[in-house]
Amino acid sequence: MLEAHGACLGNTMRGYEARGRRLRLLPAGGALVAGRSLAGCRSAVVAGQSPAGCRSALVAGRLPEGCRSALVATGTSEGCRSALVADRLPAGCRSLLMALPQTGADTSAIAMACVRSVGMDTLGSNGKASVKVSELDGKAPESTDYANYFCTYAFLYHQKDMLEDHKRTGAYFQAVMQNRRQFSGKVVLDVGTGSGILAIFAARAGARKVYAVEATSMAQHARKLVQHNGLAGVVEVIQGTVETVSLPEKVDVIISEWMGYFLLRESMLDSVLVARDRFLKPGGSLFPSHARLYLAPMRSTHAHHRKAEFQGSMEGWAGFTQDMRQYYGVDMGCLNEEYRREQQEYFLETSAWADVHPSQLLGSPACFMRYDLLTVTLEELAAPLKAEFRMDVLDSGPVDGFVGYFDVQFRGSPENPTDYEVLLSTAPDPTGATHWGQQTFTLNPVLEVTAGDAVVGEITVVRKKENHRLMEVTVAHRVVGASPAAATAGHLRISRYHIE
Ligand SMILES: C[S@@+](CC[C@H](N)C(=O)[O-])C[C@H]1O[C@@H](n2cnc3c(N)ncnc32)[C@H](O)[C@@H]1O
Repeated sequence: MLEAHGACLGNTMRGYEARGRRLRLLPAGGALVAGRSLAGCRSAVVAGQSPAGCRSALVAGRLPEGCRSALVATGTSEGCRSALVADRLPAGCRSLLMALPQTGADTSAIAMACVRSVGMDTLGSNGKASVKVSELDGKAPESTDYANYFCTYAFLYHQKDMLEDHKRTGAYFQAVMQNRRQFSGKVVLDVGTGSGILAIFAARAGARKVYAVEATSMAQHARKLVQHNGLAGVVEVIQGTVETVSLPEKVDVIISEWMGYFLLRESMLDSVLVARDRFLKPGGSLFPSHARLYLAPMRSTHAHHRKAEFQGSMEGWAGFTQDMRQYYGVDMGCLNEEYRREQQEYFLETSAWADVHPSQLLGSPACFMRYDLLTVTLEELAAPLKAEFRMDVLDSGPVDGFVGYFDVQFRGSPENPTDYEVLLSTAPDPTGATHWGQQTFTLNPVLEVTAGDAVVGEITVVRKKENHRLMEVTVAHRVVGASPAAATAGHLRISRYHIE
């Protein structure tokens, strides 16, 4: 239920209360424009001077005790808890976007003093103080996770990379705009809003309210973008991890672009599930609603290049150890094996980004995993993924490796199915890859197959112990069929890979 207090002009003798769309006159409650607001005024859009008890002001000449947030304030006094722009910050202020050094004080010094005085969370982009503008703001990510994962998202160039992937952004646009019924008049949560783009789509599709949550300082750019596009009345950008923010109400729709390489890298789906469990109304829907993972046999010159690079690296090491012996009399040969292991892992056992052409596929893709985002649990996601697969071979030849990719579907929920189902696929495509490309897992040695055979096996995907956002993949596979190739390659082989 929306509740607001306000008055239109002049000294606030009377105000109005809005409950939903109905207005009712009541005594002093708030001021839209006021020379001076009376005791009891709780919010002012523009106020010459707001009195004790005023809790938020958009523009205020001077903010008195008890004010809890100000967008622009020339003088804030004790008790003010957040200011977007302020020339002077009082004790008790807990968040700040910009301090104008009208008193000759250094802006950053004021901000840092504010940070120190109240223990405000200081982790923003590049070590700058983070900004708490909304009372709903949550905590910044934990510092190691920030360094490992979040930091790149604080840069516009990275958000641009994603935005200009039109297969991706276009799919979300279609999913929202072709399903306006799902958004019209609804409350939406955008998990990881980044630049704010999906929140803007949702607002344009008629959402009543959109909570746009972003952990990094990109939230500040999102706020600006939302405001500039005239949607500040609908989209509320909240900075903080979705795990720590608070929302004043439950939501009808959660929209999020959380997918990483091979779907699972980044483990951001965890955060979407946390948001689902905390904030989604029963019957609400997730955009996207479903995800699938695929593996297919491929031919690729990439595998040969990687092997050649590995050989080159080992030859380089041989020359290097010779030089070390000759120049310094130090024999490094005892580390040959360790170096080989390290380089093998890098060149041959780490999956790579690729834009695979469909003509490179030697067989049918196996869909080995399906997720229903409404029902999958955090525990299921954290557990090792183990799935059997079967890929029918359609073309004879050596299999140089496997190509892995995913798709997501926008199907709404059983109670609220979408009118128009959108598919965002990262499959090999003759028109080119999305920014996710595909992940290739090369085989060493290659696998000989004949049309009519099948490659069968089991794939395991496990989160890395040292960084849960990275993965280790094991593919146990063998060839089955009546061909002589199947007879020679019919034994079980196990290949291991890192997704970095
Ligand atoms: C893949 S980007 C998508 C950005 C934007 N929604 C878009 O579609 O262009 C994911 C965003 O989610 C944010 N993010 C990831 N985990 C988050 C979490 N737990 N809480 C809040 N934001 C998060 C990242 O900082 C990043 O900006």
